[in-house]
Amino acid sequence: MDRMIVRGGKALAGEVEVSGAKNAALPVMTASLLCEGEHRIRRVPVLADVATMARLLGHMGAEVVRGRGRARTELRIRTPAAPRPEAPYELVKTMRASVLALGPLVARLGRARVSLPGGCAIGARPIDQHLKGLAALGAELRLEHGYVEAVLPRHGPGPAPRLRGAHVPFDVVTVTGTENLLMAAALARGTTVLTNAAREPEVEDLARALRGMGARIEGAGTDVVEIEGVDELRPLDHEVVADRIEAGTLMIAGAATRGNVVLRNVVPAHLEALSQKLREAGATVESFSDGGRDCVRVRGGGRLRSVDLRTHPYPGFPTDMQAQTMVLLCLAQGSAVVEETVFENRFMHVLELTRMGADITVSGRTAVVKGVEALSGAPVMATDLRASASLVLAGLLADGETEVQRVYHLDRGYERLERKLRALGADIRRASAS
Ligand code: EPZ
Repeated sequence: MDRMIVRGGKALAGEVEVSGAKNAALPVMTASLLCEGEHRIRRVPVLADVATMARLLGHMGAEVVRGRGRARTELRIRTPAAPRPEAPYELVKTMRASVLALGPLVARLGRARVSLPGGCAIGARPIDQHLKGLAALGAELRLEHGYVEAVLPRHGPGPAPRLRGAHVPFDVVTVTGTENLLMAAALARGTTVLTNAAREPEVEDLARALRGMGARIEGAGTDVVEIEGVDELRPLDHEVVADRIEAGTLMIAGAATRGNVVLRNVVPAHLEALSQKLREAGATVESFSDGGRDCVRVRGGGRLRSVDLRTHPYPGFPTDMQAQTMVLLCLAQGSAVVEETVFENRFMHVLELTRMGADITVSGRTAVVKGVEALSGAPVMATDLRASASLVLAGLLADGETEVQRVYHLDRGYERLERKLRALGADIRRASAS
């Protein structure tokens, strides 16, 4: 297994281009199941999770080809007339976003057999809201042998049954739950209204991709979304939105190392919650346009001040930025209260950070981070995607050398992070398994 070797103490400077968003690319890829033909998706990051989704679509009979060279961030997906409506456990267990195949398969083929994703390191991650929504649209669901089987009941001869529009009030805000229902409702008969829907930019980007296929969707990006079902859709031709979590991770790197970094081709509005926290902590964050591209510049200045965090669905502070921001708080002046309200077990990075000298006390979903004078480099182990990013950031700040093991977690969600950090002056290299 690859490791990342980081030597800390350098202030980062320079500029990097941010990749397309993993959490937008994955649902947009499953939208290709909604219609036969040749789909084109641009700005798709080169990531392990994207490769897994390509394997899943391949298992269903689609042909997924990634461009080469300068076109390497472009995917072409050829979807057959009748994809195999199954997502097997072997693939779903490595990537829970596979559950996003459920909505499109049921909507297009009237049936689906998808492995239940099970929990993961950060929490139980149930999909009850996904299932409640599909049932509201008329799917009959059966849970057996670790799979969910969804089928549209046939009532006599005649055309294949279709989902029918309904009101779906979500009990909790769920990003992929909202995305599954957006895709299912796009081909349902009649109107669907989602209330308490997720407002994340990745949900809005999927809606934009679906509208490009001919779907009729109003209100995506707000908590009430109305979808007027259509009889059929046309192939995707979509460019994925910038990855706000990769951008945020690099912003933390710039601010915490007291550097001066520019992130290119971002959506500043998607970074607002983090930008505000960085300003409160004493960093400078400015957005500007250069050559038609929106950019953000972050300057760390002196020692930053502690600020409290409370994660919340968008537009609140993103749970996917909690671990990374905690690293900045480890060396800040004062102490901070970090509340993780979205997932029940998203403090696994804390144990590793305390091994590097951080002063963090966890009680349930709350962590108190007392700023210390320095962190010291150490061998540490990644447990999940964003925890692995936080350990790399800690290595940038620590005295001496940090070795981050199990870097495959990082590769699931960051495209060549070490190259981007090196372009900003970081002393970081990947060591392949010895
Ligand atoms: C998406 O996961 C993201 N993944 C996660 O990013 C992100 O952390 C999360 O949204 C929250 O923003 C993708 O988009 C592929 P949820 P998702 O359904 O959709 C509960 C990363 O690091 N819930 O919004 O699985 C659930 O337990 C990953 O890139 C139910 O109770 O998250 C959680 O407490 C990690 N029932 C809360 O809602 C359901 O049916 C939010 O989960 C669904 C969710």
